[in-house]
Amino acid sequence: MLYVSLNVRLLLLVRDPRGTMQSRKHRDWCPGNPDCDRPSHLCRDLIDDYRTSEILLKKYPSRFRTLRYEDLSLNPYEMTQDVLQFFGLPFDPMVEEFLDTHTKLNIGGVSSTFRDSKTAPFHWKEDLSWEEITEIEEDCTKAMDMWGYRRAHNYTELIQKQFDPLVLPAPFS
Ligand SMILES: *[C@@H]1O[C@H](CO)[C@@H](O)[C@H](O)[C@H]1NC(C)=O
Repeated sequence: MLYVSLNVRLLLLVRDPRGTMQSRKHRDWCPGNPDCDRPSHLCRDLIDDYRTSEILLKKYPSRFRTLRYEDLSLNPYEMTQDVLQFFGLPFDPMVEEFLDTHTKLNIGGVSSTFRDSKTAPFHWKEDLSWEEITEIEEDCTKAMDMWGYRRAHNYTELIQKQFDPLVLPAPFS
């Protein structure tokens, strides 16, 4: 009841653990900290999040939703409109301007908010070694199946242009 009167809406943003692990390698606060640098910890959390999402969606279908970062990045305009609608907010011209200026080019360092959003989520393909990728996939098999992230069977398959790490449709969508 409390949640209803407060008009709370909750969005859970999920990312491919291969992308998360690659991104975290660039942060000096991460390596050496097991809660941050171990795929098994990350993916145990992703499994917990999936199970909690199932419960929350059943209980609060109009107040809770999940979003994969990759789906947002590949379709920033459509997904942003979608998310704003979920929160009951308008697609303000300033939001559109932000998307126009921040999703098309890579500018700045690791914490910059200017990114080519179509390629940014998938840098792990080039930046992680095949060994690192298989290690993550072994620890994350279940979490990746749940959230619709496709595992590569071998290096040849991974580097092919047509290899799509995303299983569609996104879960819960
Ligand atoms: C790589 O995996 C794909 C998909 O399972 C398969 O078709 C292909 O034969 C494999 N290639 C090698 C070199 O093992």
